[in-house]
Amino acid sequence: MRMYDIIDDKKNGRALSAEQLAYFVKGVTDGTIPDYQSSALLMAMFLRGLDAYETFLLTDCMAQSGDMLDLSAIPGIKVDKHSTGGVGDKTTLIVAPLVAACGVPVAKMSGRGLGFTGGTIDKLEAIPGFTTSLSREDFFQTVKKTGCAIISQTAGIAQADKKLYALRDVTATVDSIPLIASSVMSKKLASGADAVLLDVKLGSGAFMKSLEDAIALASLMVRLGERAGKKTAALITNMDIPLGMAIGNALEVSEVIDILQGGGPSDLREVCTALAANMLELAGKGSYKGCHAQASQALADGSALKKFAEMVAAQHGDAGIIKNRGLLGTAPCHLDVYAQKCGFISGMDTEKIGAVSVLLGAGRKTKEDQIDRTAGVLLHKKRGDQLLTGDRLATLYSSGTASLTAAAAQLTAACRIEKTEPRPEKMILAKITAEKTEIY
Ligand code: URA
Repeated sequence: MRMYDIIDDKKNGRALSAEQLAYFVKGVTDGTIPDYQSSALLMAMFLRGLDAYETFLLTDCMAQSGDMLDLSAIPGIKVDKHSTGGVGDKTTLIVAPLVAACGVPVAKMSGRGLGFTGGTIDKLEAIPGFTTSLSREDFFQTVKKTGCAIISQTAGIAQADKKLYALRDVTATVDSIPLIASSVMSKKLASGADAVLLDVKLGSGAFMKSLEDAIALASLMVRLGERAGKKTAALITNMDIPLGMAIGNALEVSEVIDILQGGGPSDLREVCTALAANMLELAGKGSYKGCHAQASQALADGSALKKFAEMVAAQHGDAGIIKNRGLLGTAPCHLDVYAQKCGFISGMDTEKIGAVSVLLGAGRKTKEDQIDRTAGVLLHKKRGDQLLTGDRLATLYSSGTASLTAAAAQLTAACRIEKTEPRPEKMILAKITAEKTEIY
């Protein structure tokens, strides 16, 4: 078999066989296929697409290109969640302890942020002492003892995806529905959970910009999960505004604690409660309504907060941050951004706001960049809020003053202000299961 012929087949729109896809994934994993040929095939896949069967095959090969985790030593139905990535998305830090507080174990592997989207691991590492690299034994023990643990995805999981994602990132081939679906689901299949909830983000701060594309991606991922024997469902959630008011690692951890203490922004609370309720439903904890009530109760009665504290302590973090937020640190420089005209915020370019947080130091432009854990954006107003000229729109935090002025201008440009009040937008836009698609 020759890589040239595989590229040529896909370039001409022909479906690839199981043998061809296995050859490609094996060659990517063991390094025998050069990056220029892999990149050419990725572009052909991007332009010509993959049918559902090719996507199933690619996903299976990628899942098996590394370790396949066996979580059976942990009692109970283990439920995983995955977000396709957004701005201010700190849901995993809330949902993992929340679901665990309701009696369902969560053994979660997460990633770091890249580009304008943040990553769960970077957020957790803003907690002093917190370690995201536990041995497999310690990971299992922590889940058994506390009900949840979140670790950095080990190098061994879906090795082909790791290499292909890095190539896609630099060859403009990320935003392809079959490539995203196979990338996400290969990791989910290898991570060993019994059920998976997918959070497909839609809007100006997400890869998916139309409901039609988001539903296509979600349906494909649900089919891939179910085909592998995992109960799988997807929510499509709103990423046309940043989630919550905080963007940036330590700022987001503080907002997580606000939610777990019963406060915090209502959009973030709504999304987290819905995610947790769906995870509980997948784990067989009853009807959706009953699961929603369980999740709301665990937020209200402090049991989710207690679980969060236990998880932080078990992963060597300082749970003192709950009582003393100062332990998270504060950026040495800050700048308030004020509204330059009056009206209502009618839209927010969320990708641009994510880019502002990267400019301030909260994210990475390349994988090698160091991040500044205390940098970021704290919004004071959001879509739908009324503003008078001079009202405080946001506060920007950074370790130096160099980026503050440019960041303030970019943040102002990312907020559209109009005379009329915009119609409220829903946060939960659709739910996709193997049986049906509900659009809310
Ligand atoms: N997240 C992933 O893990 N893979 C993609 O391709 C896109 C988002």
